[in-house]
Amino acid sequence: MKPIRVAVHGALGKMGQTLVDALCREPDMQIVGATDIKATEDYLPLPDGSGTVPLSSDLKHILTNCQPEVVVDFTTAKAVMPLVRLATERGVNLVIGTTGLSADDIKAIDGQAKAKGVGVVVAANFALGAVLMMHLAKIAGKYLDHAEIIELHHERKLDAPSGTALATAKAMAQARGKPFATPQQGGKSDSRGKQVEGITIHSVRLPGLLAHQEVILGGAGQTLSIRHDTSGRECYMPGVMLAIREVVKHKGLIYGLDTLLGLEKG
Ligand SMILES: NC(=O)c1ccc[n+]([C@@H]2O[C@H](COP(=O)([O-])OP(=O)(O)OC[C@H]3O[C@@H](n4cnc5c(N)ncnc54)[C@H](O)[C@@H]3O)[C@@H](O)[C@H]2O)c1
Repeated sequence: MKPIRVAVHGALGKMGQTLVDALCREPDMQIVGATDIKATEDYLPLPDGSGTVPLSSDLKHILTNCQPEVVVDFTTAKAVMPLVRLATERGVNLVIGTTGLSADDIKAIDGQAKAKGVGVVVAANFALGAVLMMHLAKIAGKYLDHAEIIELHHERKLDAPSGTALATAKAMAQARGKPFATPQQGGKSDSRGKQVEGITIHSVRLPGLLAHQEVILGGAGQTLSIRHDTSGRECYMPGVMLAIREVVKHKGLIYGLDTLLGLEKG
């Protein structure tokens, strides 16, 4: 079988570099081009020493000359819609990992994917373990009335609480059909963190951490902890590779790695 031709948008960034490295190790994928707004060279040397691929700050140039079947995007939210328009118009499938997209962006991506008959996967978290943590927390929240989340990240993270912690709290409350029970005491204290749907979220920021989250559920005489830790960006790669393999078989939008894995069915 012919390998899937993949181009990386944002190839010089932290995720882009990890992805280029990972693609070189996948026998059923072929990296055929790379784009980055910071590109100053015409070619990107591949980290496995197998050669180079065309590199450009001009996405159109890469789409036209390298003929990718899939573009994988890890850039900034601002760069996503121009990419969606250019790629879908040329029948190129997309895997989008960039975070910070609005509900309107998602709707527009869905419309564009359907109109052009291409596949698009958008997932704000490609770490399989993180998606499973959220899924298990949703199940547990149906049976235990109290929950708190501790999310821990590196000190350079700008937002707090993390998008994953907010999404976890909202998904847990939605699965349960009602907010969680809030403790009677200390609810308004400064040290109690952010309240979302009755769940208190605590944010820790320290050098030495990457991305970690613990969901602690409580019931009379018991607690249940569900914890996910990342120790490297390679944690996202199996999820991204799965998305690349699936997106070429699909038309329209698949939103979230949980949907791709079939977890949203329960
Ligand atoms: N979905 C996930 O699982 C997941 C995991 C980690 C990071 N992310 C997200 O991926 C994105 C990138 O993260 P990062 O840590 O690699 O950031 P980064 O800043 O290291 O890399 C972003 C790269 O995109 C390039 N870029 C910016 N605008 C561009 C444009 N218009 N055209 C082409 N290239 C452009 C930049 O030059 C940079 O090299 C962020 O939104 C981050 O939140 C998602």
